[in-house]
Amino acid sequence: MTKPTIVLVAGARPNFMKVAPVWRALTATKKFRLVLVHTGQHYDDNMSKVFFDDLRLPKPDAYLGVGSASHAEQTARIMLAFEPVLLDADADLVVVVGDVNSTMACTLVAVKRDVPVAHVEAGLRSFDRTMPEETNRRVTDILSDLLFIHSPEARDNLVREGVDPAKIHFAGNVMIDSLQYYAADAEKSNVLKTLGLEGTRFGLVTLHRPSNVDDPAVLASLMGALAEVGKDCPLVFPVHPRTRAVIERMGIEADGRHVRLIEPAGYLDFMKLMRYSSVVLTDSGGIQEETTALGIPCLTIRNNTERPVTVEVGTNRLVGTRPERIVSEARDALQRGAGNAKIPDHWDGQAAPRIAQVITGFLYEQS
Ligand code: UD1
Repeated sequence: MTKPTIVLVAGARPNFMKVAPVWRALTATKKFRLVLVHTGQHYDDNMSKVFFDDLRLPKPDAYLGVGSASHAEQTARIMLAFEPVLLDADADLVVVVGDVNSTMACTLVAVKRDVPVAHVEAGLRSFDRTMPEETNRRVTDILSDLLFIHSPEARDNLVREGVDPAKIHFAGNVMIDSLQYYAADAEKSNVLKTLGLEGTRFGLVTLHRPSNVDDPAVLASLMGALAEVGKDCPLVFPVHPRTRAVIERMGIEADGRHVRLIEPAGYLDFMKLMRYSSVVLTDSGGIQEETTALGIPCLTIRNNTERPVTVEVGTNRLVGTRPERIVSEARDALQRGAGNAKIPDHWDGQAAPRIAQVITGFLYEQS
């Protein structure tokens, strides 16, 4: 019998560390032919190639090279480029991860071509329709045949929206699979030495949400808050290209003594920076999870989170975007640390093997 073919889709930076453990776990079963597709939604070396190198992912079987554009255009380009690859692969299943435009675009194409879809990291909801990711999540989930969730509230969200509970599987968090698997490699990173941070106390910042960075007045006010926090604890800020563009276009001043802007960091360097930081300030989704797993206090510069378990159980605090609140919460976090935070259930490094097991049942029992 020929092995079923699974197409795995990765497109943007936060996809790569989720795809890697799934790719490894499916490979280990020896039961499938795997086709790795990179849409090229992210394309700079420091947003893409370094992740393939750090994660030891193979070169993609297909690189779609879609690049940046408006949501409509980027989504459309991904769909147009993905369809022939999907047909050529003669896929039995498409696996998508996360909530970026590539996730939704490839799901739409697969479903229209009658190929089932598995969504890893299903059921997350911020209940904020102004976030592009919220639309991607909802569309992807309603169309998927296998929904792999990483926290119990995701099941409630999906059932409320009419998803058949039989399709939902509590696999756990694949991002934590990567965090554990590459921990020793990350430890070997020289990033602290290179930045002169060895043995020093520092905080780590990331900001890239359109709501925080696209409006120069909002970004300038957040930079002011960071400068204030930086007086208590110097901050390192690897700047996303989206954010860099606004900073440069508007000539927003960064207080270089207290907030050090650096280029986007690779996966292993970023893991090392995070592990050794005293506090993390971010608007990322995945970093809320990684800091929870590492026991590092995290301040999320947003008014909502699709990952409430990181607040209820973990080290995360939702602090909004008002500068005074960010500064006072940062001071408090620096003083009190992570408190009694716990690691959520099934964030144990074994999510991808659970996913592989369910997929094996799905594809072999179907045929
Ligand atoms: C995308 C995802 C977001 C994810 C984020 C992580 C969507 C809707 N958004 O947002 O969920 O959290 O990735 O980074 O899918 N750019 C470069 N080089 C690159 C990639 C982007 O310079 O390799 C610049 C371009 O100017 C581009 C801008 O960054 O216009 C934004 O990139 P885009 O992929 O549209 O969205 P992100 O903000 O990265």
